[in-house]
Amino acid sequence: MTTYQPANEPLLDGHSATAAANSLGGAQEQKQTVRSVYEKVAEEYDERIPGSGPSDEMFTEAERGFILGKVHADEDVLDMGCGTGRFTVLMAQAGARVSGLDISRAMLDQAHEKLAEHGHAADLREGDMAHLPFDDASFDTVTSMLALMHIPLEDRQAVFDEVYRVLRPGGRMLLGVKNTLIEQFFKADRFAAVDITDVPGKKLLFTQTRTGEEYTAPWYSFSPHELNALAARAGLTVTHVRGNSPIAVWLADEVLRDPSVAFAVRGLEQTLADVPPFNHLGYHLLVEAVKPAR
Ligand SMILES: C[S@@+](CC[C@H](N)C(=O)[O-])C[C@H]1O[C@@H](n2cnc3c(N)ncnc32)[C@H](O)[C@@H]1O
Repeated sequence: MTTYQPANEPLLDGHSATAAANSLGGAQEQKQTVRSVYEKVAEEYDERIPGSGPSDEMFTEAERGFILGKVHADEDVLDMGCGTGRFTVLMAQAGARVSGLDISRAMLDQAHEKLAEHGHAADLREGDMAHLPFDDASFDTVTSMLALMHIPLEDRQAVFDEVYRVLRPGGRMLLGVKNTLIEQFFKADRFAAVDITDVPGKKLLFTQTRTGEEYTAPWYSFSPHELNALAARAGLTVTHVRGNSPIAVWLADEVLRDPSVAFAVRGLEQTLADVPPFNHLGYHLLVEAVKPAR
C-alpha cells in the first residue's frame, strides 16, 4: 500500500477556478442548480448511468470491485451523494449498515424504493455534504461515487473536514472522481454518453432527457495532487489511488467490442490500475483516504 505525501498546491489553478465561478454562479447558486437538475432526472437516472458500451461495463466493474474490496459486513457506512443508491444497495447487500445523504429528495426517493425492493432499509437524509447531519465518529466508511465533482470549489475542503469529523479513528473515505490529468487530453467527454462533460466549461450536460430539455450542472474534476492536499488538510492520509480505465480510455469502443481485445484490456487494467504511474492516469480515480487510528 502506497502512502502519498501532501502536495503544497492550489486546489484548482486560478484561471480555471475563475472561469468556472463566473459562468456557474456562487456556491449556493451552484448547489441549487445541482439539486434542481437531479430533481428532474431522478426517475430516469438509472437508465442513463452507466452507459452500455464495453468501456462502460469495465468502468462499472472497476468501481464495484473497489468498493466491495474495502467495505465489510457489519460496518457503519455513509454514502454521500448516494443518488438512486447505485452503491448504497450494493453495500447493504454486502452486509453493511448503510446511511445515505443526498441534496435531492427525488434521488433519495428512488434509493429508498430500490433498497426496499432488495429487502434493505437505510437511514436516508436530505442534505449537503459540506454540512453532514451526523454525529462525530459515526461511521467506519464514508463513500462518495461520482458526486464530489458537483461540489463548488469553495466547499471542497469543508466536505473533507466533515468526512474526517464523522469517521471513527481508523475509518476510511472512498471516492470515485474524474481525473483532471486525463481531461487535459480529452477536452470533450471521452465516452459517448447521454451525460457529457464539457471540460473547459466545468459543466456536466444532461442530453437526451425524457422531456427533451438539456440540463447543465457544475462539474469539477480532481487531480491526484488536489485529492492528496484536501485529504491531508483534513487530517486524512491517502493510502490507495486506483486508476479506473487507464487503458480503455485510449481505445475506441469499436476496438473494445472485439472479445479478445476486451479480455486483454481487462486483464491489463486490473494489473496496472494500482501501479504508478498508471494509477494516476485513470479516466477516473478511485481513492481511499484513512483517518489515523488514534
Ligand atoms: C452523478 S450522481 C451520483 C449518484 C451515485 N453516487 C452514483 O454513483 O450513481 C451525483 C449525486 O450527488 C448529489 N449531490 C450533488 N451535490 C451534493 C451535495 N452538495 N450534497 C449532497 N449530495 C449532493 C446529487 O444530487 C446526485 O444524486
